[in-house]
Amino acid sequence: MTQVSITVDGTKYTDDVEPRTLLVQHLRQAIGKTGTLVGCDTTNCGACTVHLDGVSVKSCTVLAVQADGHEVLTVEGLADGGELHPVQRAFHESHALQCGYCTPGMIMQSIALLQENPNPTEDEIRNGLEGNLCRCTGYQNIVKAVQQAAGSVAAGTGAAE
Ligand code: FES
Ligand code: FES
Repeated sequence: MTQVSITVDGTKYTDDVEPRTLLVQHLRQAIGKTGTLVGCDTTNCGACTVHLDGVSVKSCTVLAVQADGHEVLTVEGLADGGELHPVQRAFHESHALQCGYCTPGMIMQSIALLQENPNPTEDEIRNGLEGNLCRCTGYQNIVKAVQQAAGSVAAGTGAAE
């Protein structure tokens, strides 16, 4: 076992982990952040997307020990009290989800996309989300949600403007 300290959604957690433990397993099982989902075992679906030091990563491809000393932001850390993050609100208002399984990862990736490119074209949105799969929506309303949220994310932070 190895001891790791990871700040998740603003709170520091120190735990013993097996060296092979994936970050997504650690987030869900040790820390209780079950809003971050596992949708595959092939690094394809993007349901597990979180931000690691402000960079979007698939948390099933990162070991918990690699996050030691770093900051993780999950979908559960986005809302400010009862106030949804603008990208969460846009997904809600644009009906950008059906079963919702892809949604946490889609939202985290959409925020990363808007941090890099605050006003993306439709093609840029589709390219930016190509690592996140949705089996329900046909993507159209997801693109609409990102367009609605454009300009609402402060560069490099994940925070709302
Ligand atoms: S769980 Fe599918 S990419 Fe991580
Ligand atoms: S809403 Fe069901 S997988 Fe995207």
